[in-house]
Amino acid sequence: MTDQRFLHNQWSSRLAFVLAASGSAIGLGNIWKFPYLAGENGGGAFVAVYLLCVVAIGIPIMIAETMLGRRGRQSPINTMLTLAQEAKTSSAWHYAGWLGMLSGFLILSYYSVIAGWSMIYIFKMSSGYLTHISADNASRVFNELKSSPEIQFIWHTVFMATTMAIVSRGVSGGLERATRFMMPGLFIMLVLLDGYAMNSDGFAQGISFLFKPDFSRISGESVLVAMGQAFFSLGLGMGSIMIYGSYLPDHVSISRSTVFVASADTLVALLAGVAIFPIVFANHLEPTMGPGLIFQTLPIAFGQMPGGSLFGLLFFVLVFFAAITSAIALIEPAVAWLSENRAMSRETACLRSGLGCWLLGFGTVFSFNLWSENTWFGKNFFELVDFITANIMLPVGGILVALFAGWVMKREVTETELEMGPAYSYWRLAIRYASPLAVALVTLSAIGVV
Ligand code: PHE
Repeated sequence: MTDQRFLHNQWSSRLAFVLAASGSAIGLGNIWKFPYLAGENGGGAFVAVYLLCVVAIGIPIMIAETMLGRRGRQSPINTMLTLAQEAKTSSAWHYAGWLGMLSGFLILSYYSVIAGWSMIYIFKMSSGYLTHISADNASRVFNELKSSPEIQFIWHTVFMATTMAIVSRGVSGGLERATRFMMPGLFIMLVLLDGYAMNSDGFAQGISFLFKPDFSRISGESVLVAMGQAFFSLGLGMGSIMIYGSYLPDHVSISRSTVFVASADTLVALLAGVAIFPIVFANHLEPTMGPGLIFQTLPIAFGQMPGGSLFGLLFFVLVFFAAITSAIALIEPAVAWLSENRAMSRETACLRSGLGCWLLGFGTVFSFNLWSENTWFGKNFFELVDFITANIMLPVGGILVALFAGWVMKREVTETELEMGPAYSYWRLAIRYASPLAVALVTLSAIGVV
């Protein structure tokens, strides 16, 4: 059923898929974004909604998106085209692939700037400059960074160039091997930080902030943000997991692999939250401080630990690594499509898409300084791009995947692809009704329609 010209290599094993998918899922979304969103949106209630979205919407859609990829075995746009032909339905479905490609492109433009911040912290940590830093000084150091377009520009450029250099060679074996060590490394580091947090004065308050839901503190928009964060963090609705699924050999259990990836992703986000909020409360900081949260809290913890400069350095190296593996997933759909359809070499495809992202990233760099006063709907450029992609484009992409897998593809086809046994009926119910309805309801109520 697949056009042989486009058949690409398959993963050597299920492990390779799990590593790549975790690499895409675990990134700045878990360590940087989840904690500050939880802080801004009322803590426990946000976390509860987030967890519910992961289970009820995220996992079923992740299974569906991986399955579409494995059956289509091409870039998302061509996969959707092939599968629509197979189901004898409108080829308009391939616009879902376009939407995903555009989302990945827009997300990477700001992702790269924030990844640049974490690269700067690698050097700040290693210089020993943050040893015994006070909360005030940690904020000052971060604000200096935020107000300097030049420094952010340099590191945004370095990060984007590194990503594109890796992507142009094809997702290499070296990276796959490195992921095997880096992911557990990040996990160990977070556990270490959690150990520190447990002994801090703010621990009880931090835990109750994060895990004791107070639903009076959550608005319609916060529910939308929690759902958007579930899509963002799992890396759904934009075709990257579809691409990774396209490398998966037949007969590997999609459901087991994806549930594993989703659990690891969620665990990492929670571990990051548990590390950060005790520091916030012990130092009388504001949980609502926004995108600077990890940069203004973690240096305080590392600064007080024996060997903290080394641990801090290692931590930010691992964050950088996690960010690179996600960045690759964000741009891969665009690069795969350009090289499949435009007869472009991978290098040229990378150069063009990378340049575009890099230029757009300036908007984010300036959002924190020169353009901080320029807002649309009360949001600066960065906030707007983030809001539109995570809270609108990814969920819409996810709904399209759900509708296609649940209503367009034949039951026999999905049942054989998934080989889930009795759990299949639950998946089918979720993908046909629960997930699309929940996404639609949350989105419509946030924009005030229902
Ligand atoms: N999941 C990544 C993170 O949490 C970001 C990402 C979003 C990657 C969408 C791929 C697709 O950092």
